[in-house]
Amino acid sequence: MAKKFYITTPIYYPNDLPHLGHAYTTIAADVLARWNKLRGKSVFFVTGTDEHGKKIALSAEKANKSPKQFVDSVVPKFEEAWKKLNIQYDRFIRTTDKDHEIIVSKILNKVHKSGDIYLGNYEGLYCTSCEAYYTKKDAPDSVCPIHKKPLDLLKEKSYFFRLSKYQKFLLDLYKKNPDFISPKSRRKEIINRVKAGLTDFSISRSSFSWGIPIPFDKNHVTYVWFDALLNYYSATQSQKKLKKFWPPNTQIVGKDILWFHAVYWPAMLKSAGLKLPEKIFAHGWWTISGEKMGKSAGNAISIDSLVSIAGSDSARYFLLREASFGDDGDFSEKMLVERHNSELANKLGNLVSRVSTLAEKYGLDKKAGISPLALKFKNQIAKHLDSLEFDKALQIIIRYTDKCNEYIQDKKPWETHDKQVLYELANAIKNISILLSPFIPETAEKIAKTFNFKISLSELDKPLKISKIKKSEILFRKI
Ligand code: MSP
Repeated sequence: MAKKFYITTPIYYPNDLPHLGHAYTTIAADVLARWNKLRGKSVFFVTGTDEHGKKIALSAEKANKSPKQFVDSVVPKFEEAWKKLNIQYDRFIRTTDKDHEIIVSKILNKVHKSGDIYLGNYEGLYCTSCEAYYTKKDAPDSVCPIHKKPLDLLKEKSYFFRLSKYQKFLLDLYKKNPDFISPKSRRKEIINRVKAGLTDFSISRSSFSWGIPIPFDKNHVTYVWFDALLNYYSATQSQKKLKKFWPPNTQIVGKDILWFHAVYWPAMLKSAGLKLPEKIFAHGWWTISGEKMGKSAGNAISIDSLVSIAGSDSARYFLLREASFGDDGDFSEKMLVERHNSELANKLGNLVSRVSTLAEKYGLDKKAGISPLALKFKNQIAKHLDSLEFDKALQIIIRYTDKCNEYIQDKKPWETHDKQVLYELANAIKNISILLSPFIPETAEKIAKTFNFKISLSELDKPLKISKIKKSEILFRKI
């Protein structure tokens, strides 16, 4: 049986329209999903929306809607956005889905029985935008370090999860599985914070009702993060055939929510007696011309405007090419257009256009011998993609494209009409397109049609079976 690959994105708050930040995580997950499919793995890719909690309840109130009406009106915007960006997920999970609510109840009962939940009084600071608790140490002036807004002082009866009990377990986990938290720099940060001590966290709220009821005390609803994290598990439990996907192989999150995923999440799973994910990868943040991007700054880039710059493939390509995935990046339309023009239009687009035009005129011919354009770095690319070094994988593919462009310049097939040179180039174009297909799926499909090959890794080693082709349409128009 094919090996399985389960990949997740965070589930997004539908209190707002999807923007470039959400797109970044989702595109990266889509590239990994496609890449693993390409290598023949059985892939399950889950994304969705995080619909409970105070933040959503407040947004609904402002919109004069019930919370459920409100989320029902925003969720389709996420689905449309992912369609525009060619995201091929297998399940879009909503935390208001019945099957998820049942799982959350079950797990709460289980964790309660194991003695890891107790009733106490919560008194402390809270940021509704983060849906997170803060201590005086994290926020000495009672202002949220992320949203820069004053924190609320909460005082209510609440159920707590015994996170403190899991300190040693977590430290052992990080030690035994050096890749559990990636990249390395973030891993260190988390380890230091866990070493400094863990406090139990509140997992229920009683001052509002928009959430999953705590099964053993109906006066409380589940804290939104406890509910949301479990989506990754419930997505695999609704059908028998999906159960084999548990646990996740890679979970992509932004650096801002790594703590929940690297600390709360494995402790919750351990307490519930469930297997742990293999890898949590925290990516960096995009700023817009140096400024933090967000609703309050009024500079969030919508999916429509992102795609309208140079199309969906160019947007996908740019976001993973421009910055290393673990680092922050600065977004500007100008940079996207530059990459689109110089790499996709000039390098790849021109190569395909020249080779297909000449091949239509003069034909292709395979002769014996190894091509100077033979592919030598397949394993290197695989290694980069498996470690989420998208930019490095793309650099190698672009260098190969450069080599092809130099070759055609050098051999001048428009003068020599050399069918073999054209064949070698066509074969290289096949390799480039297959390797780029997770990033630019729409374009890769077009090239595959022109040159008559299947997009699969096994095709990389097979010579093209074609002697006649038709000139390609223009793939990327220069802007
Ligand atoms: N609902 C929680 C996640 C629960 S997962 C069990 C949440 N949602 S969110 O809608 O606020 O954002 C989710 C993701 O978007 C995070 O991974 C976050 O890092 C990412 N981004 C939001 N703004 C971003 C940028 N400016 N740049 C890159 N990613 C950013 O958190």
